[in-house]
Amino acid sequence: MSSYKSYPEKLFYPFKSNLDFTSGALEKGAKCWIRQLSEMIEIYDENNQSLILLESEDTIVYKVYEYEMPKEQGHLIPVTTILYPGRVGDQFFMTKGHYHEEKGTAEVYLIISGEGVLLMQTEKGDHKEIYFSKGALLYIPPFWAHRMVNVSNTDPLKFYGVYPANAGHDYDTIVSDGFRKKIVFDKNSPNNYKILKSQN
Ligand SMILES: [Fe+2]
Repeated sequence: MSSYKSYPEKLFYPFKSNLDFTSGALEKGAKCWIRQLSEMIEIYDENNQSLILLESEDTIVYKVYEYEMPKEQGHLIPVTTILYPGRVGDQFFMTKGHYHEEKGTAEVYLIISGEGVLLMQTEKGDHKEIYFSKGALLYIPPFWAHRMVNVSNTDPLKFYGVYPANAGHDYDTIVSDGFRKKIVFDKNSPNNYKILKSQN
């Protein structure tokens, strides 16, 4: 077992990649995976869930490019996400949302293009909602769950992130407890959305 505090027996070598700012893809060796609506049904309001089952279960909500790094403290994981525009009823497309399993780990996002809202909350009841657009740098401190919401009707939201390789993802707590706030379409709002208290 290697330690981040001592020189490793097997040295990890530096590498260079490219971020395609048009597509949002990380090139050269990054793994790509997708999240479909069928994997996220339970995070939408109950009255909206039937809309997914009726017509759009296979729809791709977001695509992720990331490097498979050693899952050890000391390493960082670079990642890009393309979150497509769309809605389920009045709720915008969003990421599934998670706490880090290693709760004392942070994350940084840089917005490449698009606009949205970052929902954050803690297990103790704190919450914070931040609107952002291209160029925004978002800092998610340790202990804050996080979910990205695309509030555009037309444009993908593309963002680059970095997080500690030992962070891990706890999706289950969010699936069971939900987020305290939700972002819904509001045609009368200048930013196209409003923030409501969640049902659950
Ligand atoms: Fe995260």
